[in-house]
Amino acid sequence: MFFYKKKYSIEPNGIITRKSYSNIALIKYWGKHNNKIQIPLNSSISYTLGSKVYTETRLIYHIRKKKNISIRVFLSGKEKKSFVPKILEFFHRISFYCSYLKHFNFIIETYNSFPHSSGIASSASSMSALSLCIMEIEKKLGYSLKKDFFFRKASFLARLGSGSACRSIYPGLVVWGYHQSIKGSNNLYAIRYPYKIHPIFTKIVDTILIIDENPKKILSSKGHQLMNKHPYAKERFKYANKNMDRLISILKIGDFQEFGELIEHEALNLHAMIMTSIPYFLCMKPNTIHVIHNVWDFRIQSKKNIYFTLDAGANIHLLYPIKEKKSILKWIYSDLFFYSKKIIESYCFNN
Ligand code: PMV
Repeated sequence: MFFYKKKYSIEPNGIITRKSYSNIALIKYWGKHNNKIQIPLNSSISYTLGSKVYTETRLIYHIRKKKNISIRVFLSGKEKKSFVPKILEFFHRISFYCSYLKHFNFIIETYNSFPHSSGIASSASSMSALSLCIMEIEKKLGYSLKKDFFFRKASFLARLGSGSACRSIYPGLVVWGYHQSIKGSNNLYAIRYPYKIHPIFTKIVDTILIIDENPKKILSSKGHQLMNKHPYAKERFKYANKNMDRLISILKIGDFQEFGELIEHEALNLHAMIMTSIPYFLCMKPNTIHVIHNVWDFRIQSKKNIYFTLDAGANIHLLYPIKEKKSILKWIYSDLFFYSKKIIESYCFNN
């Protein structure tokens, strides 16, 4: 379906810039089929974040004279030779669907507004931004692409770079992976959440506490792989799919407490899988635990709707309704600042 088979004329060079935002999963993707490329073992849903948490990528392409491909990658102006093998593998994977890539050499200049490999999904926003740039090349080759196809294929390509990246192509609530209750959901690319949601979920605050800026102890590719022999994997996949059904009804009804309890449970489920894989890992840091306990205590005392979620790292996302922003943010800065290296204020939108 995504195979590029039209005749095209080559532009000798060009520059494309695209921006993509990171996403935070509510129902987590953790585990993929090991004999197929990036096919998830359960469906997932995320909010694409609204501000301050993005990757901006400039893709410069030149016609290739020699046979071998040359790719140079720069992060915030500094050349990153260590990034090249992953990008080369990505280009290799997608070459069947984007045969035009073989004509070019590339310079990829990328800027992240947040720390790389810190548990904030930089691979999601960067692979998403790069895939959008590639689709812009496809568009420039003279093939008139329908808007739906453009984004669907961008999501399909991004998935081949990093699973969760396929969700960053779209704003708002985004689903990836087949789920029987979600029309159009599938394993090959993400779709926007297709149902109406309660207004409380159209704009919520996500305050991200950076607890640890160092690269993660466990790479997600390794973590997914460990799910193939994980003693609790089967139950986890069933459970994630059940949680998706629960979330569908919560999003409709608008029960923030139920929503919060579900996302906290999902986050702890993900970490439970990481902690019980063989070999086992622990991604949370002492300050992650301090923050979680503080959030729980504050919630009981203040009766405010503030809940956390985590990626496969030590950093914490605190989610709460926009109308409670002022008082909650004040509390975060007064009581949680001490535990974090940095605080990033972002939003989850779904219009
Ligand atoms: O996209 P990957 O392969 O880096 O996997 C990321 C998985 C989690 O961020 C932990 C969960 C998710 O669904 O985003």
